[in-house]
Amino acid sequence: MKVNNPSLPLRVIVIICFILLWLLLTGFGALQPNALAESGTVYQERSRHSSDGIGKFYMGREIAKVMGHTEALWLERASREVTEQPQQVVEALDLKPTHVVADIGAGTGYFSFRMSPLVPEGKVLAVDIQPEMIDILNFLKQENNITNVEPILASATDPNLPDESVDLALMVDAYHEFEYPKEVMEGVVKSLKPGGRVVLVEYRRENPLILIKALHKMTQKQVRKEMQTVGLQWLETKHFLPQQHLMVFEKPKEQQIAARQEV
Ligand SMILES: C[S@@+](CC[C@H](N)C(=O)[O-])C[C@H]1O[C@@H](n2cnc3c(N)ncnc32)[C@H](O)[C@@H]1O
Repeated sequence: MKVNNPSLPLRVIVIICFILLWLLLTGFGALQPNALAESGTVYQERSRHSSDGIGKFYMGREIAKVMGHTEALWLERASREVTEQPQQVVEALDLKPTHVVADIGAGTGYFSFRMSPLVPEGKVLAVDIQPEMIDILNFLKQENNITNVEPILASATDPNLPDESVDLALMVDAYHEFEYPKEVMEGVVKSLKPGGRVVLVEYRRENPLILIKALHKMTQKQVRKEMQTVGLQWLETKHFLPQQHLMVFEKPKEQQIAARQEV
C-alpha cells in the first residue's frame, strides 16, 4: 500500500528540533548510557558530556568548568549591578556587626568587599581555589585599606576554614563549578557554628529563557537535594532577584540533631 503523506518530512524536522532543543537545555547532561564509573559511587565520569562541563556528574548533574582567573574582569562588569543586584543580596543576608562570613568561591571579592562594611567587628573569609584570585583579593584589600577581609586559598576538596567559627557561608555563582561539591560542603558545614547559615545564589535552571549556559544554572530541587545530603536544612528561598534564586539553609543546632537521632 502506498502511503501518501507529504507532511512527514516536516514532522521529522520538528522532532529533530525538539531533540536538539532538549539536548541544549539539559547541557547534554541527560545522556546516561555512556557512564564510565559505577553508579552508587559519589561521582560518575562520562566520556560524552557538555563542552561546558568537566565530564563528572554529581547527583544527576554535570559539574561546570571553573571560570578562570583570566576572566576576573567579567566578575566586575558594571551590568551586574542591574542583573544581580549585589547590594540587595547583601542586605538580604541579615548580617550582624560581629558576624564571621565565609565567601566561598569569592573570585575578585565582588561580594566579600560589599559584605565587609556590614561586619565591622567580625570578618569576611574570602575563599578561592585559584592563587591568582587570592592575589587580586589581597591587592584590592590593601588598595582600599580594608582590614576585615581575609583571603584563604582553598583546595579542591577543602575550603580550609576553622571549625565551628562561621555564622554564614555565601556562595554566589560558584557552587555549580566545585569539582568535589560533597567534600567542600562537608568542610563548610564543619566550619559553621550550630545554627549557622549557608546561602546559595544560582541562576534559575527551571527557566530556559534565562540565557546562561545550562551547567551554570541550577534548579531549586537540585540544590535542596545536594544540601540535604550534607545535613543542611532548607529555611527559605527568596525570589526578589530577576534571574537567580537566593536559597537559605541552616546547620541544625545540636539539640535538633540529637532529637533526630533518637527518633
Ligand atoms: C564564577 S566565579 C564567582 C565569583 C564570585 N562569587 C562572584 O560572584 O563574583 C566562581 C569562583 O569560584 C571559585 N571556585 C571554584 N571551585 C572552587 C572550590 N572548590 N573552592 C573555592 N572556590 C572555588 C573559582 O576559582 C571562581 O573564582
